[in-house]
Amino acid sequence: MDSIIIQGGRPLNGSVEASGAKNAALPLLAAAILTDQPVEYHRMPHLRDITTMITLLANQGADVSMDDQGRVRVDTSSSNNPEAPYELVKTMRASALVLGPLLARFGRARVSLPGGCAIGARPMDMHLKGLETMGAVIRVEHGYVDATVPAGRLHGARIAFDKVTVTGTENLMMAAALADGETILENAAREPEVVNLADSLRKMGADIKGDGSSKITILGVSSLAGAELSVIADRIEAATYLAAGLISGGDVTVRKIEADLLDAFLARLRDAGAGVEVGETDGESWIRCKSNGRLNSVNIETSPHPGFPTDLQAQFMALMCIASGSSVIRETIFENRFMHVQELRRLGARIVLNGNTAVVEGVAELSGAPVMATDLRASASLVLAGLAAQGETVISRVYHIDRGYERIEEKLGALGASIRRNTPHTDMFRRPDIATD
Ligand code: EPZ
Repeated sequence: MDSIIIQGGRPLNGSVEASGAKNAALPLLAAAILTDQPVEYHRMPHLRDITTMITLLANQGADVSMDDQGRVRVDTSSSNNPEAPYELVKTMRASALVLGPLLARFGRARVSLPGGCAIGARPMDMHLKGLETMGAVIRVEHGYVDATVPAGRLHGARIAFDKVTVTGTENLMMAAALADGETILENAAREPEVVNLADSLRKMGADIKGDGSSKITILGVSSLAGAELSVIADRIEAATYLAAGLISGGDVTVRKIEADLLDAFLARLRDAGAGVEVGETDGESWIRCKSNGRLNSVNIETSPHPGFPTDLQAQFMALMCIASGSSVIRETIFENRFMHVQELRRLGARIVLNGNTAVVEGVAELSGAPVMATDLRASASLVLAGLAAQGETVISRVYHIDRGYERIEEKLGALGASIRRNTPHTDMFRRPDIATD
């Protein structure tokens, strides 16, 4: 398995371009199932998870092509296998996003349950309950969701989510786009990726209002057309590079990213004393973070958008490991999203855990060591800590990183990091067969 080797202690300076967002691209690809016309995509990131979703669509019979400029074309007119097999779903739980579209388009679906993952149980009960409310008949057996629509077409319904669920909102919004009548989603997710999906569905002919708020209204239409869709910038990737600049005492600008995607994160960086600048040059938005010396410690609590993103909790913790003073970090979304803590401790971090709360006592310096990636965002926090640590840090199981960060060692290397990937010859072509977050 690949590992990444970092010689820390070098300030990162310069600018990188944000890729298209993984968590926007995945539902957008699933939306191609809703039409029998071709859908074209721009700014599709080159990531392992995207490859998995494309493989899933091709497995259903779709015709998919992709170039190296981030352009993808999906044509599901010949799709005839409304399935998502365990072999694919277990490597990417977001495969469940095909369930709503398959039911809306074909009236049946057989989708493997994703199973658990590193950061939590992550059930999909709210997805299934919502689809049943819309007229689906669902059986869960042998590790699969077997769903049919006896009436032939789903019908609109009022669905109130017990908890905010991002892919639950996206799955049901896509199902409702072709349902008979009106669907109202209450306590809906407000993430920018949900809005990107709603904008895209509207381009395909859907009637959707209220996306970005906690109440989304969808009036089903009889069919949707193909369209050209654009993936929004990856706010989590961008924030990770901004954090890389700060943790190394440097000055990093991320281009092609709108600052309003990261309001909560940037506010906490400002509270911590970082220099944060946002702007637009020649029509291109950018965010710049400049180190003003050692950060102050600040407390964070994760919450659904527009709150502090859970996907940035591990990265922010890495920053606080070398801040002055102590910070309290509360994780309210997932029950086990502190897997990075024991690895950060190996680099000299002082962190005490108490349930879903971590207290980080900032230290003057971290020291490099071998560490192990456990999930996507935890591995990003280890990269950040390795950039700050004195000496060498070797991060193993970096396939976790490759799921969500496009060419991370190239982008960090271009900013001045001493970072390289080691691919042992034996594992060159072995695909890790492991459940992921
Ligand atoms: C999405 O996951 C993201 N993934 C996650 O990003 C992100 O961490 C998460 O939203 C929260 O922002 C994609 O968009 C592909 P949820 P999702 O449903 O939709 C519970 C990354 O690093 N829940 O919003 O699966 C669930 O257990 C990934 O890029 C139920 O109980 O998350 C969690 O505690 C990691 N029943 C909470 O709700 C359900 O039916 C929020 O989960 C669904 C969710």
